[in-house]
Amino acid sequence: MTPTPPSPKGLPEATRADSRPVNRCDHLGAHPFSDTQDGLFRAYLSDAYAATCKQVAQWMHEAGMTTRTDGAGNLIGRYEGQTPGAPALLIGSHLDTVRNAGRYDGTLGVMLGIEVVAHFAAHGERLPFAIEVIGFGDEEGSRFPASMLTSRAVAGTLDALPLDAVDANGATLHEVLHKNGLDPTRYLEAAYRPEQVVAYMEAHIEQGPVLEAANLSVGVVSAIAAQYRFKVSIQGVAGHAGTMPMSLRKDALAAAAEAMVAIERIGAAGPTDLVATVGQLHVGPGASNVVPGQTTFSLDIRAGTELVRDQAAAEICETLQTIADKRGVGLSIELQNDLPATPCNPDLTTQLAASVTHMTGQAARKLVSGAGHDAMVMAALTPVCMLFLRCHQGISHNPAEAVRHDDVHTALLVMLDFIRTFATTTAHKPTEFSA
Ligand code: GLV
Ligand code: MN
Ligand code: MN
Repeated sequence: MTPTPPSPKGLPEATRADSRPVNRCDHLGAHPFSDTQDGLFRAYLSDAYAATCKQVAQWMHEAGMTTRTDGAGNLIGRYEGQTPGAPALLIGSHLDTVRNAGRYDGTLGVMLGIEVVAHFAAHGERLPFAIEVIGFGDEEGSRFPASMLTSRAVAGTLDALPLDAVDANGATLHEVLHKNGLDPTRYLEAAYRPEQVVAYMEAHIEQGPVLEAANLSVGVVSAIAAQYRFKVSIQGVAGHAGTMPMSLRKDALAAAAEAMVAIERIGAAGPTDLVATVGQLHVGPGASNVVPGQTTFSLDIRAGTELVRDQAAAEICETLQTIADKRGVGLSIELQNDLPATPCNPDLTTQLAASVTHMTGQAARKLVSGAGHDAMVMAALTPVCMLFLRCHQGISHNPAEAVRHDDVHTALLVMLDFIRTFATTTAHKPTEFSA
């Protein structure tokens, strides 16, 4: 059993009994905060995303923050420190979701950031740094074939914007930005200068079963796995399903099926941290009486190190080419996202682990995250750390995602303890900056 964590100075009873961050995620789990009537799907810069930002901005105001939308459409709330304009501790996660999502992936981290500020503000507590809570717009690649666009803009690592990228309805990023009142030429102005920030912290559900199996409320992330996303296209020849003999077909879907089984085999044969996934498949022309002439599918490959990921990617590409040659179909493999393995900052991670122990009375479990997070992008800007929360049966990217209110309460205590300790142990630059 997890011992009852000590109560921090003046934490409101209501927050302990019933988790406001969880209730808020639940509130955001349906229309108008979802683009679909059934289940949750919140795409970057969609109507549901706009409604969500409006609601979250209101909660940020109530917590004592000023708010702004940056050039990339991220929602940012700011709570000043002891000196107005001081560099900020960033607390962030994402507000977009996958299709048919759970309610806590990303959103819970933003709600916890707001709760942290609400707690400091309610006690008139100002820190030697400001706190900025960021709700990122695109972590999942929820709308365009590129992920982490918005944290890359904030971290200053997005060199060029894929303005011609199209969503499922054929709208370009350029058009969608305009529709949302955002100027594409100002997108990259979302970037912070390193001297404007002191660190980045993210709280997120684990999305895996380790903490639950160990009966732990929270854990500390030591590193985030390397990730590739590819778009694979196979070009066959469409033909009449009744007249084209089997021996003469160039069936793009049958080729894709063989490719997918090979991808699964290569992924399973590697080290346990290697995973390879095909999650999207489009078949053209897509009629029951037509031999498929064209297929495209996504390919997601991840591992704890770039070496393992890259070796698997090379083997998969070679195997797919062999399959294509054997079947006489065309093959193209386009790299869409390359995220290197990202260690969290060792000093911050040690300090976060100490806060876990302080607040739970248990040694902090360290985990490598197989899921990608905005933190892995933000690490290019500033030192990052991540706190994981137990989630039910490790289920995520699924409406069955669930968290315990008491775990969220524990996470809040850990974050408050970490921030207070960080405030006393870090030498903060006296210079003033405007965000
Ligand atoms: C985000 O959830 C990812 O890991 O793809
Ligand atoms: Mn996700
Ligand atoms: Mn997430």
